[in-house]
Amino acid sequence: MTLALPVPTLTAGPAGLTLEGVALADIAAQFGTPTYVYSRAALTAAFNAYQQALGLRKSLVCYAVKANSSLGILSVFARLGAGFDIVSGGELARVLAAGGDAGKVIFSGVGKTRDEMRYALESGIGCFNVESAAELDRLNEVAASMGKRAPIAFRVNPDVNPNTHPYISTGLRSNKFGVAFTEALDLYRKASKLPNIEISGIDCHIGSQLLDPAPMAEAADKILGLVDQLASEGIKLDHIDLGGGLGIRYRDEEPPTPTEYLAPLLARFEGRDEALCFEPGRSLVGNAGLLLTRIEYLKPGVEKNFAIIDAAMNDLARPALYDAYHEIVAVAPRNVPATRYEVVGPICESGDFLGHDRDLAVDTGDLLAILSAGAYGMTMSSNYNTRPRAAEVLVDGSEVHVIRERETLEHLLKGERPLP
Ligand code: LLP
Repeated sequence: MTLALPVPTLTAGPAGLTLEGVALADIAAQFGTPTYVYSRAALTAAFNAYQQALGLRKSLVCYAVKANSSLGILSVFARLGAGFDIVSGGELARVLAAGGDAGKVIFSGVGKTRDEMRYALESGIGCFNVESAAELDRLNEVAASMGKRAPIAFRVNPDVNPNTHPYISTGLRSNKFGVAFTEALDLYRKASKLPNIEISGIDCHIGSQLLDPAPMAEAADKILGLVDQLASEGIKLDHIDLGGGLGIRYRDEEPPTPTEYLAPLLARFEGRDEALCFEPGRSLVGNAGLLLTRIEYLKPGVEKNFAIIDAAMNDLARPALYDAYHEIVAVAPRNVPATRYEVVGPICESGDFLGHDRDLAVDTGDLLAILSAGAYGMTMSSNYNTRPRAAEVLVDGSEVHVIRERETLEHLLKGERPLP
């Protein structure tokens, strides 16, 4: 039976939950817990859904590396022909190490350093998404010092409200991102006169976990107006990048499919010859991954019962940080009535919870799967409380590839020393 759960390749069978062909219990036995477990089939299906929605349109899907930057994940997308949206030199190094094509890399972010610019120019990336006038000047200077021309798009802030969590909305005038809509024309005029800058496109990104396509369509209209105005001044663009942001189902959300999300955008761009680019992160990896964890203790309380697990806010920060909901299911539920638990980690903070008020039929030592953890899980993990980071495995049919070994205390102490 397929569970009514957000991870498409997760099924419940006699051996408990299996991902593709592999029992989660076997993964825990072999690799320990906590472990991030990803499904290659789910990653591939999510990417193909975008490709199908885009059809024959000249387009490029640039996976937003920040959502999950593990080499194993990047290599899946590189083999599918994806481009990549990066925000640091570190992410560029990862893309290249995973076999990604530098020419399909776009570099976003408000604080690019000179070193990062140099590295990106040396590597021959496809485009810099420039976010301020000062950045444009710096990029022109760095490119000049290397005898190169830097391909650019301005990230334009369209000032639309994406109706999402305030921490992850990025396209309002009050946000730090992009150049103001009202300044964009002048900046393009200025860029067109700089000797070491080559104008290539335009970009916008309004926020994340978007469930409604309307704000994106509104942004696209504004961007299109600008593109046409630029063309009338002889500044011709070869691509239009509409960012990422499509949401996923964590609990009971009903996000549009890529086809539904892209339809109003594609309609607006029909007959135009600019390439269309997108920077999806969460919608490509979020529901292709889960965090597998074991219950260390059950602790009945006066007001609440606690299930203390071996994963914590350092492994998956989203609940503590955004009060985000992640479905938590027993890998092999017991045939007993469920008890209501606070699912918490071992870290010394009351904010260290993975889920509130969860009904689970479990006992000490049982495995839990924390779902929808493929995006902004591992990449936002930390070593808080000197906890080694989790292992990561990628399930591919009946095979399981370790794509990141569990950290050891040796890794953690490396580079540190006490006073002599
Ligand atoms: N492009 C740019 C310029 C971005 O800033 C982002 C995400 C993306 C693309 C990818 O957006 P996505 O398709 O994943 O929504 N840590 C938060 C999410 C922060 C998103 C930041 N920017 C979370 O865990 O919900």
